[in-house]
Amino acid sequence: MNTPDIGIDLGTANIVMTYGKKGVVLSEPSVIAYNTCTQRILAVGKEAYQMIGKTPAYIDVVHPLSEGVISDDLLTQCMIREFLMKVCGGQLIKPRIIICVPAFITELEKRAVGDAVMSAGCRKAYLIDEPIAAMLGAGINIGKARGHMVVDIGGGTTDVAIVSMNGIVTSHSVKSAGNQIDRAIMKYMQDRYKLLIGEQTAEQIKIGLTNLYDPRDDVTMTVKGRSIMRGLPDQVEINEMELFDAMEDEIFAIMEAIKKVLEETPPELVGDIHDNGILLTGGGSLLGGLRELIRRTLNVNCILAKDAVHCVAKGTGLAFQKINHLLDGFEGVTVYKYR
Ligand SMILES: Nc1ncnc2c1ncn2[C@@H]1O[C@H](COP(=O)(O)OP(=O)(O)OP(=O)(O)O)[C@@H](O)[C@H]1O
Ligand SMILES: [Mg+2]
Repeated sequence: MNTPDIGIDLGTANIVMTYGKKGVVLSEPSVIAYNTCTQRILAVGKEAYQMIGKTPAYIDVVHPLSEGVISDDLLTQCMIREFLMKVCGGQLIKPRIIICVPAFITELEKRAVGDAVMSAGCRKAYLIDEPIAAMLGAGINIGKARGHMVVDIGGGTTDVAIVSMNGIVTSHSVKSAGNQIDRAIMKYMQDRYKLLIGEQTAEQIKIGLTNLYDPRDDVTMTVKGRSIMRGLPDQVEINEMELFDAMEDEIFAIMEAIKKVLEETPPELVGDIHDNGILLTGGGSLLGGLRELIRRTLNVNCILAKDAVHCVAKGTGLAFQKINHLLDGFEGVTVYKYR
């Protein structure tokens, strides 16, 4: 059967899909909206994301994945199925699927991911570790006996790994990533200015104002929300320095995770990392000044992957070409066959 293969990066914040030789064809928030009375799916992706915080009681808008793992099996299955339908133009053609999973998920969680894609109608599903997919997506040859390091900062988790000869040598994962940073900003605004802001506003501040390398107090942004004291709309100015303070603990945790992996890696491989630099992928790797901060703090060069948000998904698409190596060389690959 000659149906195109589909690669999926099933992320906490975004789901990205590749389709055969076309490359990335879908990139949408991992969100689903449904009617709680009739259990009918109302929207997925961008459309559902726009409904967050604006729906009546009978509509629920949820992120069925949290911190990189599946928190609601059924809704995840529905969401994947809806997206697969979009990508396949309405008809499910039993594709082969490679789907990427975070490095630290348990066997049970892996099975839940496998079951989700199988129940969504695929013929065969392969699971691949996120750091491996990230490296493939960035075009790095990981088959050799040389160490390469990747730091993938997503919405739910930051995954740090050192890869050599198609396998993960050392890795560590922390929950300090995009969503936690947004929550830290919300908390800061509440504590310092008694201003309530939503998640989307916090994300906009993070994307628009972050400067982790040399934050200044004369670069500012206006933030709108609701005053806790008066219960009415209000707005305040915050500057780069304040935002740095708000995010500092989360950024520190990310730096510590990178340091931990470097400390636990055999010295020969650490030498390779010094030569090759650290590959940064995921949406969080776009944080202003992050590369410079890592370079200054850890004395290792950083390379931001081209198209950092889609890099992992591109890797899942490219992994089909390496499927034989995947099956006998790669670690942590599970094959689910259509029954
Ligand atoms: N320019 C930017 N600057 C800072 N953060 C950004 C930027 N663009 C996107 N992000 C953040 O990146 C995160 C999403 O990244 P990504 O799509 O890689 O996550 P994910 O793969 O869905 O999550 P995970 O891998 O943890 O399951 C969000 O928290 C988003 O706010
Ligand atoms: Mg991801």
